[in-house]
Amino acid sequence: MKALISALTLFAAGTTCIQAETPVYLDDSKPIEERVEDALSRMTLREKINIIHAQSKFSAPGVPRLGIPEMWCTDGPMGVRPEVLWDKWTQAKWTNDSCTAFPSLTALAATWDPDMALLYGKSIGEEARYRNKSVLLGPGINIYRTPLNGRNFEYMGEDPYLVSKMVVPYVKGVQSNGVAVCVKHYALNNNEINRHTSNPIVDDRTLYEIYLPGFRAAAQEGNAWSFMGGYNLFRGEHASYNPILMNDILKGEWGWDGAVISDWGAVHDTRTAVSGGLDMEFGSWTNGLSNGHSNAYDNYFLAEPYLKGIQDGTYSTVELDDKARRVLRLTFRTVMNRNRPFGAMGSDEHVAACRKIGEEGVVLLQNRNNLLPINLDNVKKIAVIGENAIKMMTVGGGSSSLKARYEVTPLDGLKARIGNKAQIVYARGYVGDPTGEYNGVTTGQDLNDPRSPEELRDEAVRVARDADIVLFFGGLNKAAHNDCEDSDRLSMELPYGQNELIEAIAAANPRTAVINISGTGVAMPWTDKVDAIMQAWYLGNETGNALASILTGDVNPSGKLPYTYYASLDQCGAHKMGEYPGHPGVDELGNEVMDMPYNEGIFVGYRFTDKNKLRPTFPFGHGISYTTFKYGKATIDRSEGTETDTFTVTVPVTNTGSRTGKETVQLYIADLKSSLPRPVKELKGFKKIELQPGQTADVSFTITADALKFFDPELHAWKCEPGTFEALIGSSATDIRTKASFKLR
Ligand code: BGC
Repeated sequence: MKALISALTLFAAGTTCIQAETPVYLDDSKPIEERVEDALSRMTLREKINIIHAQSKFSAPGVPRLGIPEMWCTDGPMGVRPEVLWDKWTQAKWTNDSCTAFPSLTALAATWDPDMALLYGKSIGEEARYRNKSVLLGPGINIYRTPLNGRNFEYMGEDPYLVSKMVVPYVKGVQSNGVAVCVKHYALNNNEINRHTSNPIVDDRTLYEIYLPGFRAAAQEGNAWSFMGGYNLFRGEHASYNPILMNDILKGEWGWDGAVISDWGAVHDTRTAVSGGLDMEFGSWTNGLSNGHSNAYDNYFLAEPYLKGIQDGTYSTVELDDKARRVLRLTFRTVMNRNRPFGAMGSDEHVAACRKIGEEGVVLLQNRNNLLPINLDNVKKIAVIGENAIKMMTVGGGSSSLKARYEVTPLDGLKARIGNKAQIVYARGYVGDPTGEYNGVTTGQDLNDPRSPEELRDEAVRVARDADIVLFFGGLNKAAHNDCEDSDRLSMELPYGQNELIEAIAAANPRTAVINISGTGVAMPWTDKVDAIMQAWYLGNETGNALASILTGDVNPSGKLPYTYYASLDQCGAHKMGEYPGHPGVDELGNEVMDMPYNEGIFVGYRFTDKNKLRPTFPFGHGISYTTFKYGKATIDRSEGTETDTFTVTVPVTNTGSRTGKETVQLYIADLKSSLPRPVKELKGFKKIELQPGQTADVSFTITADALKFFDPELHAWKCEPGTFEALIGSSATDIRTKASFKLR
């Protein structure tokens, strides 16, 4: 490769031969920093301005004169978004941009398996690479603060440790393709309602312990090449160019050298965009989703207004050079990396990855009377009820909406798997969202049904009564207010009268399994009326096949909840103690905002239910199997030590059932006495293991001082205090099976 470009040979007028040295910035044998400085030194002021803002909905210009290519971004985070027109949100109607739709990121988090995250990242990165994208706008890792957040399905749950462990391999997998991730939405973008004016009021300790660790892991351990700033405000400035979040923390404390990209339409001002650590401006004059002014690019805050400001001396070029350097670095790491692989789209491997991740992520929440898996020796008639059995879900939800190559619905997946071994009778049950369209992409399904709710319910009850088993597929569907960007849920209740319908079906036939398809927690007032409950997420192309494998027992479920399944909003700290969606206020700059005090502080998710001794419907980390696991007694290698010592705790786990299965063994640490209030316990380790029937394995966790620390806001540092700690080992946050104590001197 180097030989090809080591010299540019120019033939002039047929006779003279001019040899020119390869410019350093084009020479990929040179360190990136040298290439960056060389390119920068050759660029004009206008060229530097050009590369830091968009030229179309999803691209930024390179430097044509120097042969530095354009930079193309794409959503993200669960598949590669279909092409829109240059300057419109309208579909470009390309015929080569149908993608593999991967499971939602909540499903990925529910695998509790970093290898799945690596596989996911590698696969989606290959698709982005094949489509010649430099930046994949994902993953999303905002903490699940409330079940009402419309974008929970794009995120990885409530626990900062789990998020950190899952995001790093995702980042590495994507970037192994020479495609940058854009980790979003940094930070505190925990709701969609009022997303441009939300002003979370959060103390430092909560920020560092709960809302930042995932981002820090992505930046420092994952070496993420770009970050996306959120729409919300924080301490007087919008997140996308927030001096505290971007300059002090991300680029300062964490020493990160990547590029900050604004969310689409998140920039409102030149002065602060210049100084607040933003490197690339995208989507100004659009709502980020569907509307936009035409050809507004020269008016971008970091375009002509910035250029003029430099020319008239309002701004120096120091910030501009820093921004341009970061964009060049991103360019050399991606589109100008000649060694990057070519990628692939819709490969057999991607289909297999999609299915595998889905199968590993589905969570069996309840299984009374061993209703599942479906025993095809006895079950001759299966009632399949509910709109979500037939509805395609890869379209919808906002910017993560996809044009999938295909999508197997649950009903189709079951029919394909069961064949003529049993009769499947389908009843619609309810009409939810029959539209099947987002931003010009349609599923092609016509789900309109003229029947009344009573007619639909009566049919469903009749079909249920007559069946050996009932599989109800319901939940949400990525329509507005039902797992959708720009619109939070209006309550935790299932929509479209599903609760009443489930009760009626269960009364007719308690051998009912509810398969809830959603990306967030919903209220389940009927848990004691149905035998089985499964949390099934949005699983992408292979939805029906993955679910059929689990329902029939071809695959033993092994997912665990990445968030607490509250019985009601009262059990959630954000609603009980904190504010949501906040109250009108005025920020430091005099802007009208929605102040949202996070009074619950660090007590998010199980940290809140633990503290208040609440019993959620299903706890964080919960998920059962078709087999059972017995935990032996935990032992620890040392009972005392100092901050520089490590402690290794080991527990034998045995598969006591009759099927091979996987269990995620979870380690929580409890600090028995501390100078500041601490959660009852916090997740600090997990391992997913597979065991044959009767097999025992020792599972060990090494505990370092990091697992014992809390963030001391006075010191502005992490610290641990001497005293007694407990290593609690269990199968969920409320199912602790064994523990060992140790002392820190
Ligand atoms: C979303 C981002 C997305 C961007 C580009 C915004 O509305 O918040 O997550 O990447 O649009 O589509």
